[in-house]
Amino acid sequence: MQTTLRGRDLISDLDFSKEEVETVLDVAWDLKMKRALGQPHAYLRDKVLAMLFFFSSTRTRGSFEAGMAQLGGHAAFIESRTTQISHGDTEREMGEIFGRYFDGIAIRHVDWGVGNRYLNLVADASRVPVLNMQCEIYHPHQCLADLMTIIEKKGRNLRRKKMVVSWAYAASYLKPVSVPQSLVLQMPRFGMDVVLAHPPEFPLMPEVMQQARDLARANGAGFEVVHDMKEACKDADVIYAKSWGPLVTTTDPAEGKRVQDQYKDWVANDELIALGKDDVIYMHPLPADRDIEVTSSVLDGRHSVVFDEAENRLHAQKAVMALTMS
Ligand code: CP
Repeated sequence: MQTTLRGRDLISDLDFSKEEVETVLDVAWDLKMKRALGQPHAYLRDKVLAMLFFFSSTRTRGSFEAGMAQLGGHAAFIESRTTQISHGDTEREMGEIFGRYFDGIAIRHVDWGVGNRYLNLVADASRVPVLNMQCEIYHPHQCLADLMTIIEKKGRNLRRKKMVVSWAYAASYLKPVSVPQSLVLQMPRFGMDVVLAHPPEFPLMPEVMQQARDLARANGAGFEVVHDMKEACKDADVIYAKSWGPLVTTTDPAEGKRVQDQYKDWVANDELIALGKDDVIYMHPLPADRDIEVTSSVLDGRHSVVFDEAENRLHAQKAVMALTMS
């Protein structure tokens, strides 16, 4: 068991080794049980986390904020538009100054070509851990909660389990590619056979795809890309179907919407889920475009684990904070 996580950043999913991720999950299950039993677990008494948001959030804000309080500390919710960042505070200044006030700096910044660089520049200047609450490339804390949920439902041995990560149609906005990218990086390390399904205009970043292929090969796992949602879902153990924007192809919102609107039939519905194994689970990080991206019958149906998945954000993040900020 690798336990040397104190002071570490979590920006990319691969910042923690597989063994370190296993440590995070073990701590997460311990904290989950302690909360269930009402046992105090104030590992971060008097510690304060800065939560700097450049984009809206329901689950991420709620789970980090509740998690810090349950660990005996406090989380400061800071919206970028209420700061002096637009008046000149640089990444270096944010890292230096917040690093002196706080015991950890969590940031959500999903702007294409901007967010990940911002997090890394703040981390370079910070003396405390920087935690990625989602950038345009990775959503590592969502992915830890996803892995935790899959293990709870399918057992610790995930080898040869088929995980489908599929694009689905959404009408609301061009969603980041960070969730599918984190999934294709993390799941092969745990032996899952990943099938990535998307229309041709919705590829993931080439460098992430290369890393995913290399990790699958190194871990003896399968990794396949198909352009047909139904073909992908046959005999699946896990169907993780969600929308993302064609951001690798175009960052123009109007052009992206035009491309996206060609694929309105890419919907997670009962017929799709029926293609999976009898005990297939349906996952989505939420928010979802209900009855557009996924039908209510799937989202609220017996295969859906979306609420357990959302709950596990709390436990997984508490584990990361306790291990990195103590
Ligand atoms: N899944 C997720 O990150 O949710 P929020 O955008 O509401 O934080």
